[in-house]
Amino acid sequence: MYKISVIPGDGIGKEVMDATLHVLEAIDVEFDYTFADAGDEHMEKTGVALPQETVDIVKSSQACLFGAAGETAADVIVKMRQELDLYVNLRPVKSYPGTNCIFDNLDFVIVRENTEGLYIGLEEETDEGATATRVVTRKASERICKYAFEYAKKTGRGKVTAVHKANVLKKTDGVFKDSFYQMAEQYPEMELDDRYVDATAMFFITKPEMFDVIVTTNLFGDILSDEGAGLVGGLGLIPSANIGENQGLFEPVHGSAPRHAGKGTANPSAMILSAVLMLDYLEENDAARKLEEALVKVLEEGKVVTPDLGGNASTMEMAAEVRSKLEA
Ligand code: NAI
Ligand code: MG
Repeated sequence: MYKISVIPGDGIGKEVMDATLHVLEAIDVEFDYTFADAGDEHMEKTGVALPQETVDIVKSSQACLFGAAGETAADVIVKMRQELDLYVNLRPVKSYPGTNCIFDNLDFVIVRENTEGLYIGLEEETDEGATATRVVTRKASERICKYAFEYAKKTGRGKVTAVHKANVLKKTDGVFKDSFYQMAEQYPEMELDDRYVDATAMFFITKPEMFDVIVTTNLFGDILSDEGAGLVGGLGLIPSANIGENQGLFEPVHGSAPRHAGKGTANPSAMILSAVLMLDYLEENDAARKLEEALVKVLEEGKVVTPDLGGNASTMEMAAEVRSKLEA
């Protein structure tokens, strides 16, 4: 029995969460859910977007399923990453059938450092304009590279590519690149590669099948993740994981999509695939594959899918179809 915290949040976050919990009922894994509040609605009611009670609930759980927040997303999700020290941001780039993917043969993963780099928020106005500070520590670089190698090993992947710009950012990305090669010594079976971020952005378009596991700093990872999402279809399909030493938080990449909210037309796939990432994190790999395969069948058939995938099913109808594949 796993202790799971559940934060549906705002807008379509609530709808895709309902759909996903419905599907998870058909999985052979026991969950003990604790629901918690965060987001715009909670802010309107109480004046706080992310109450301490929610942080505590997530801290005492093994994993958290998060739907989406609206305008308060930064306060909620960025704060949660800091409070829980969720230092890994994991984004699979995987082609699924029946979707608008540009490439139909991709299966790689981006491991993004989530706590430092250019996103630490140290900006300062100067006489001439403004400056931002980029912090790259050996400790954070080592732990993210270690995570990438361990992830590759666990998931049977053979190659890890470090992405950086060490020719220009000699000191900061020098630390990152050195940490990568130092950590690599502990994984002699792994194929290694390192590339500049600009060239990587180009190879995403021209030869993306060359990648297996990518490990990179915060800003580069943010940009490449969205570029990767663009390669394999719309926002309704892209899951993500935020992982720390003690727990993981799993969420679709999309937000609360206020224009779609309340209509029951949101694609539940990104949230369902976030649950797949959660099952893998909990090392329930068989259940993860079953759930993913059930979704793939529904996407492949293309009959009971939401409007963004060219169908006319509701969020819940598509979820029920996935569930029926699991129960078949
Ligand atoms: P969004 O991801 O909510 O929606 C953008 C567009 O993508 C939608 O209008 C829709 O056409 C499509 N879309 C997204 N998810 C979909 C799904 N499951 N099924 C079908 N189509 C889908 O991004 P937007 O409009 O920029 O932001 C809306 C709100 O969400 C904002 O308040 C923003 O702050 C918040 N947000 C929250 C995030 C989070 O909680 N992690 C992440 C991104 C945005
Ligand atoms: Mg982003």
